[in-house]
Amino acid sequence: MRKTVSENVGHPIFPRYAERIVNTSDQRSRNLILIGFMGTGKTTIGKKVAKSLGFRFVDTDHLISKRAGKSIPKIFEQDGEEAFRQMETDILRECASKSNQVISTGGGIVTREENREILKTAGYVIWLKASPETIYERVRRNRNRPLLQTENPQETIREMLEDRNDSYGSANDFEVKTDGLSLEETCFGVSESARVALGVS
Ligand code: S3P
Repeated sequence: MRKTVSENVGHPIFPRYAERIVNTSDQRSRNLILIGFMGTGKTTIGKKVAKSLGFRFVDTDHLISKRAGKSIPKIFEQDGEEAFRQMETDILRECASKSNQVISTGGGIVTREENREILKTAGYVIWLKASPETIYERVRRNRNRPLLQTENPQETIREMLEDRNDSYGSANDFEVKTDGLSLEETCFGVSESARVALGVS
């Protein structure tokens, strides 16, 4: 069974890191990429971790919205999800070609195989996980997520998590179960594992 940071706070070095560092350091850009479902804290955690590592923080949703000149809900409404996904792939590819960044990604980035391939070259990928209940509590008051504007968002979250689970699973180097961890604990686990994996002193 794979260990998660919740079981290892304070002891971030264990074999999975070493394995990945040896295998991938030559081929990957030096970035930390956060993947995970909506509401798992990718942006909040990414900003804090970027500060701690001395990396630049970038957020794919923010870059897409800036380039399109409109909000994510407006892109979905006016251009459709497929157009959004294409912009997401373009932005991810651009981010992957640079280094020393913490890249927070949109929750659906793993749904395209092309993106999962880009992620492999983009850097060290951490999957932030949370239960459907935690996610629902975090997103329920927010109207910025077009895919959750359904009659039964709780059910939608459960179904989407189920659908995407394997894609998140195959795209990450390390997973962090955030339920029950404070923001500080999560940031500590994420930044310390990234420090080891990316060789940041
Ligand atoms: C999406 C997640 C959103 C945003 C868009 C689609 C998804 O990002 O990219 O609404 O498909 O899960 P966050 O994960 O930052 O909410």
